[in-house]
Amino acid sequence: MLGHFSYHNATRLYFGEDSLNDLYGELPKYGKNVVLIYGGGSIKKNGVHDAVTEVLRRCGKNVAEDAGVMPNPTADKLREGVRIARAHHADLLLAVGGGSCCDYAKAVSVSVHCSEDPWEKYFDRFEEPDCEIVPVGCVLTMAGTGSEMNGGAVITNRETRQKVGHVFGDEVMPKFSILNPRFTMSLPKRQMVAGVYDIFNHICEQYFSGEDDNVSDDLAEALMKAVVRNSLAAVEDPLDYQARSNIMWAATWALNTLIACGKTTDWMVHMLGQAVGAYTDATHGMTLAAVSLPYYRHIMPYGLPKFKRFAQVVWGVDAAGKTDAQIAREGLTAMERWMRKIGLTMTLTELGATAEMIEGIADATFILDGGYKVLDRADVVRILQESL
Ligand code: NZQ
Ligand code: ZN
Repeated sequence: MLGHFSYHNATRLYFGEDSLNDLYGELPKYGKNVVLIYGGGSIKKNGVHDAVTEVLRRCGKNVAEDAGVMPNPTADKLREGVRIARAHHADLLLAVGGGSCCDYAKAVSVSVHCSEDPWEKYFDRFEEPDCEIVPVGCVLTMAGTGSEMNGGAVITNRETRQKVGHVFGDEVMPKFSILNPRFTMSLPKRQMVAGVYDIFNHICEQYFSGEDDNVSDDLAEALMKAVVRNSLAAVEDPLDYQARSNIMWAATWALNTLIACGKTTDWMVHMLGQAVGAYTDATHGMTLAAVSLPYYRHIMPYGLPKFKRFAQVVWGVDAAGKTDAQIAREGLTAMERWMRKIGLTMTLTELGATAEMIEGIADATFILDGGYKVLDRADVVRILQESL
């Protein structure tokens, strides 16, 4: 049975090959001063920076640049971004990049007019914004996080070795996001597949919880199948527009709150992955890939009906003559085969984690209680060791 929920999404999306033109319709809604936020320079190489700058120029905007947003954006960079936005009297923060730029823009947006330290207020004390919020827009160049249509912002504190997400409300979500699948085609294959696994795991996190028959899980299964099918096509031919556009759209639906409606959710793979990220600064999707199978094999006996359903519906496992546990195990084996085929990193060792780090990573792991088994510390340590 679906539980009580309310659904509303505050972000307007523009999708397609010509969607950058929609920026002409959006920009006049905001004041003159725009901060253009981007990462390490990929948008300068693939022409997206020039294209966006041209629209800003034609719309008469006064632009300041805030470049160098790193993957896993840091608290120090966030403080710098706040200084830039304040100095420019920002009316709009335009993030052009992947989830890191988009998350970072949201974190800056709630901090420009706030006198407190943003890390302490939002990522340590988890307070809600009580100041004016600068609007955020996004031009997405990497499919994965869903940040383009959600309120999430994940910031890493390198001094304290913490990577923490805050899910803000409607007023912090991007006012608009522009999704042109062509912009994602310059991604290196490793980043593309890391994004693919991030999408897949967002769906898993919302699917592997609860035992009801509800349409949110049916939607999740359809999305998982779409991600598997289109990822194989995109690995085969990275310029396959159909595959890249399906991946991009699936990413948005995987984490814009829709498939969590009316149900409980897990999110333990992300808690483990974020703790690994805090220690290694590894690519987000790869941290998830490395811990997923040890985690799912560990909790599978506690959620057997759902793992059996996953095996049959998503992976087409033939159930004839098999026990439920055999069917469920075959589903996870099929998932592993797919993960290896698309080229994901399957161990924490390859991401720079060591046996000596395990205790610290376990300490940094938030334990949530929505999954099929509430982990204790010993479970966390065991899963991390099996992921090495
Ligand atoms: O910095 P640049 O030069 O742009 O390069 C980036 C970066 O090195 C590159 N890239 C992006 N688009 C490209 C491209 N390279 C070539 N061509 C393009 N078109 O890819 C690298 C990774 O980018 P990043 O934005 O870091 O990746 P992603 O979108 O995976 O974002 C990761 C961050 O989002 C957080 C993660 O924890 C991590 O900090 N998450 C945010 C969530 C949310 N808001 O709901 C949920 C997620 O679970 C996740 O935690
Ligand atoms: Zn994720």
